[in-house]
Amino acid sequence: MKKIVTRTLLVLFALLGVLQFVQPERTNPPVQANQTLQATTQVPAEVSTILDRSCNDCHSSQTRWPWYSHFAPASWLVVHDVNEGRAELSFSEWGSYPAKKAEHKLEEICEQVEKDHMPIKPYLLLHSEARLSPADKQTLCNWTRQERARLAAAEK
Ligand code: HEC
Repeated sequence: MKKIVTRTLLVLFALLGVLQFVQPERTNPPVQANQTLQATTQVPAEVSTILDRSCNDCHSSQTRWPWYSHFAPASWLVVHDVNEGRAELSFSEWGSYPAKKAEHKLEEICEQVEKDHMPIKPYLLLHSEARLSPADKQTLCNWTRQERARLAAAEK
C-alpha cells in the first residue's frame, strides 16, 4: 500500500513537472501614454490609487505578474483572467473607446464593485490589499457618475 502511494505521488510530481513546459504567454503590451485613462479623462488621485491597487493587474497593460502566475496550472488560469479582463476593459486603452462605450464601462465599473463582483474572488484570496472598503466603492461610484455626466454634456 505504501509503495502504491509513493509511486502515485511520484507520477503526479512528474506530471506537474511536465506541465511547466506548457507556458502561456504573459504579456504587457506597450502603453501609449496618450491613450491611458489618466491621459484622456479627469481622474482624481484617490481614484487612480484604488484602480491601481485593485484593478490594474487585469484591466491594464501593466500587470504585475505574481509569482504563482509562473507555475502551471495556476499560470493558465491567471493568464486567461488577465486576457479576458483586458478585452472587457483596459484603462491603458481607454482613449480608444468611443464616448458611448466609455459611458457604458463607467456604469459597469460602479455596478460591478457595488455588487462585489469585482475584483474577482480568487484574486482577493491572494491579494487581500485589493479588497475595496465601502469608502473605496463610494469614491469609485462618485467618480464614474461625475465622469458620465461630463461625457454626456460633451456629447450635446
Ligand atoms: C484578477 C483579475 C481581475 C481583477 C483584479 C479585476 N477584474 Fe474586472 N474583470 C475580470 C474578468 C476576467 C472580467 C470578464 C469576465 C467577467 O465579467 O466576469 C472582468 C470584467 C469586468 C467588468 C465588466 C466589463 C463589461 O463591460 O461587462 C468591469 C466593469 C470590471 N471588470 C471592473 C473591475 C474593477 C473596477 C476592478 C477593480 C476594483 C476589477 N474589475 C478588478 C478580471 C479582473
